This record gives sequence, structure tokens and C-alpha cells, in this order.
Amino acid sequence: MDFKFLSFLIFHYFLINSSTIYASLPFPNDSLPTKSGYLRVNDTTSSAIFYTFYEAQNLTTPLSQTPLLIWLQGGPGCSSMLGNFYELCPWRVSSSHRQKIEHVAHNPNNGSWNRIFGLLFLDNPIGVGFSIAATPEEIPRNQKGVAKHLYIAIKKFIELNESFKDRPIYIAGESYAGKYVPAIGYQVLKKNW
Ligand SMILES: *[C@@H]1O[C@H](CO)[C@@H](O)[C@H](O)[C@H]1NC(C)=O
Ligand SMILES: *[C@@H]1O[C@H](CO)[C@@H](O)[C@H](O)[C@H]1NC(C)=O
Ligand SMILES: *[C@@H]1O[C@H](CO)[C@@H](O)[C@H](O)[C@H]1NC(C)=O
Ligand SMILES: *[C@@H]1O[C@H](CO)[C@@H](O)[C@H](O)[C@H]1NC(C)=O
Ligand SMILES: *[C@@H]1O[C@H](CO)[C@@H](O)[C@H](O)[C@H]1NC(C)=O
Repeated sequence: MDFKFLSFLIFHYFLINSSTIYASLPFPNDSLPTKSGYLRVNDTTSSAIFYTFYEAQNLTTPLSQTPLLIWLQGGPGCSSMLGNFYELCPWRVSSSHRQKIEHVAHNPNNGSWNRIFGLLFLDNPIGVGFSIAATPEEIPRNQKGVAKHLYIAIKKFIELNESFKDRPIYIAGESYAGKYVPAIGYQVLKKNW
């Protein structure tokens, strides 16, 4: 079949059938995020941090005590969706080449990080991945600015669900996030002083 025609069909199918997307896509429910969307970091502009959250699959503690783990990608400038889709999520995307053709697969990840923790990915800082920077001037230029936005976003996330209120929070990340993690840790300490 002509590829353009096929993609038109798929697009059209999404448009008319978006309410049945879960049942009709070949993605198992446990591969899908529990929640995703935007956390506004500025009351006067539309700047917002994009998040994707996977609730813990296998609680070993009551939900109210089940830790939330926040993941920040490095770069600077890499989307946390890299860590999500290729590293930590319950079903990972992988690709391989056979006979010079790329084969893309979607496989369960038995080492996923949302087994006993709720797992939250944040596209940080604004301007990265799906996050929105209303103006280039609002993009943080230093760790203090990054931490200020992350603190607002994490607070907004906790407000989304009563069950998040008292859960311990761990912040982790990769590579350049070795700068973000202590910066947001310091900001939380300062605010809670
Ligand atoms: C997956 O989730 C959808 C939407 O909540 C539900 O309608 C469907 O029955 C679920 N499928 C399975 C196999 O659990
Ligand atoms: C919100 O945006 C305005 C206008 O760009 C800026 O002056 C202000 O510092 C921003 N606030 C935060 C918390 O980033
Ligand atoms: C996950 O899968 C790997 C490779 O198949 C296997 O070696 C490992 O024991 C599995 N771990 C768990 C916790 O099931
Ligand atoms: C959930 O926990 C049980 C008991 O510890 C274990 O046998 C099972 O493999 C776990 N499943 C996942 C997805 O981690
Ligand atoms: C709150 O979170 C819990 C656990 O993730 C979930 O079962 C519940 O549906 C959520 N409530 C709302 C209003 O999203």
C-alpha cells in the first residue's frame, strides 16, 4: 500500500476515533502512563514543564507511603522522554537493523523503575522536549533558575492528586542532571527551612 495513503488513514483514524485509542492500539495497558500533561511554572505566561507519570505497579507499602521518584535527563537539553522510552519505563522502545532495515520493537522492561516507586519524568528545563518556553528569555540560564522552575512544577504535580501529598520524594537523573539534582535538592531544603 502506498505509504502516504496509509499514514493518511492512520491520521484519519486518530481524528475520528480518539476516544477508543486505548482499545485499538497494540499497546498493553501497563505500558501506558497513568497521567501526563503540563505543569505551569509561570502564572503570567504559558511556560510549562511537560510531565509523564507511571504509578507503582507492585506496591510493597501502602500507596500513601510509596515513594515518588523524579527523573531528570541530562544534556543539557535532552528530553526526559529518552529515559522514559529507552531506559526506565515499563515497556521500552528498541530498534535493531536486519538486512539494512530498521526494526522497531516495544518490549516489556522487567527492570522498569515504576515497580515499587511511582515514576515521574519531567522535561527540564522549559524549552526542552515537550516543555513550553513562552519566550526565550524565560529559559533558565543557571541552576538557580532551573531549580526555581522545578520546585514550582513539583509542587503543582503534588497538588494533582490527594495521594501524592505525603509520599517521600526521591530525585534522580543522568549525566548533566548531576547539576540539576543537587540544585533542586538545595531549593527544597531552602523552602522547607
Ligand atoms: C485497558 O484500559 C482501557 C481503558 O481504561 C479499558 O477499556 C480496557 O479494558 C483495558 N484493557 C485491558 C486488557 O485491561
Ligand atoms: C514569568 O515570566 C515573566 C515575564 O517573562 C518574568 O518576568 C518572570 O520572572 C517569570 N517568573 C518566573 C517564576 O519564571
Ligand atoms: C530480567 O530479564 C533479564 C534478561 O532476560 C534476566 O537476566 C533477569 O533475571 C530478569 N530480572 C528479573 C527481576 O526478572
Ligand atoms: C511484584 O512483586 C512480587 C512479589 O514480590 C514479585 O513476585 C513480582 O515479580 C513483582 N512484579 C513486578 C512487575 O515487579
Ligand atoms: C490518585 O492517584 C491514585 C494512585 O495513583 C489513583 O488510583 C487515583 O485514581 C488518582 N485520583 C485522581 C483523581 O486522579
